[in-house]
Amino acid sequence: MTLATRDHAMRMLGVRLRAAGLASPELDARLLVMGVTGASDIEMLREPGTRMSDAEEAHLAECERRRLAGEPVSRILGRREFWGLSFAVTPATLDPRPDSETLVEAALELLRDHPSPRILDLGTGTGCLLLALLHELPQAQGTGVDVSPEALSVAASNAAQLGLSARAEFHLGNWTEGLDGPFDLVISNPPYIRHGDLGTLEREVREHDPMLALDGGEDGLAAYRALALSIPGILTQSGHAVIELGMGQADEVRSLFESAEMCVLRAVPDLAGVPRALVAGRPRR
Ligand SMILES: C[S@@+](CC[C@H](N)C(=O)[O-])C[C@H]1O[C@@H](n2cnc3c(N)ncnc32)[C@H](O)[C@@H]1O
Repeated sequence: MTLATRDHAMRMLGVRLRAAGLASPELDARLLVMGVTGASDIEMLREPGTRMSDAEEAHLAECERRRLAGEPVSRILGRREFWGLSFAVTPATLDPRPDSETLVEAALELLRDHPSPRILDLGTGTGCLLLALLHELPQAQGTGVDVSPEALSVAASNAAQLGLSARAEFHLGNWTEGLDGPFDLVISNPPYIRHGDLGTLEREVREHDPMLALDGGEDGLAAYRALALSIPGILTQSGHAVIELGMGQADEVRSLFESAEMCVLRAVPDLAGVPRALVAGRPRR
């Protein structure tokens, strides 16, 4: 029989993760205890004395072993919160990043007065960008595209879990190939790491995010080139593209979209002040 309460287990785990030099030990410990016990934030606060079962303690010990071996919490639990919604993540999908919420904010601003927008998410992964938008815009319809069938099946299952399947469809393919437009908004977080820099990424990224989601080719711009060429053909005349930018890529990506006869409106900074989302439209005729 176990004596550990959730609260005690969380504190002790936090101490051990801190001693191991992890960056956010208390948060990791909290998320892991919540993940193995199924407790919500409110239950953790209101019922700190709830005892853990032997099975939960054993599961937590296994989670601790994996975390100490460098696996991110979201990979251990198979879930990540994005835009306040819970998404399944698997080895086939990028672990959604908080910075990408900048794209959702920028897109919502653009779609504020649109009665029933049609949205396209290129490189949908878990579906986090598309599904966050559909969650906020009850009249919107959306299509998520990915070249990875495994990622697409995660996105479809996330849509079902969030009750959004009726308004979301998923398409296996290479960017816009084979799609019927036009769309009012195209959103995309493409792979943008320079091939030669992949080996220098943090271990948690390098070993756990899929290469297909990271590798942007020799100069990191391969996907942007393909997107700049293909997006104008599937946007409505008043439509917009919202594209995630890698660190230091704003000027180069701006030039690519301007060369493709798109009109770049702004680069929206993330919470750290880094230009994160390029907003572009079609030139007025
Ligand atoms: C950086 S991840 C973004 C995932 C998700 N949108 C997010 O923000 O978390 C890029 C995604 O693009 C997909 N991808 C890579 N090449 C592609 C291509 N040629 N056509 C469509 N999707 C592609 C990858 O499989 C991956 O899911």
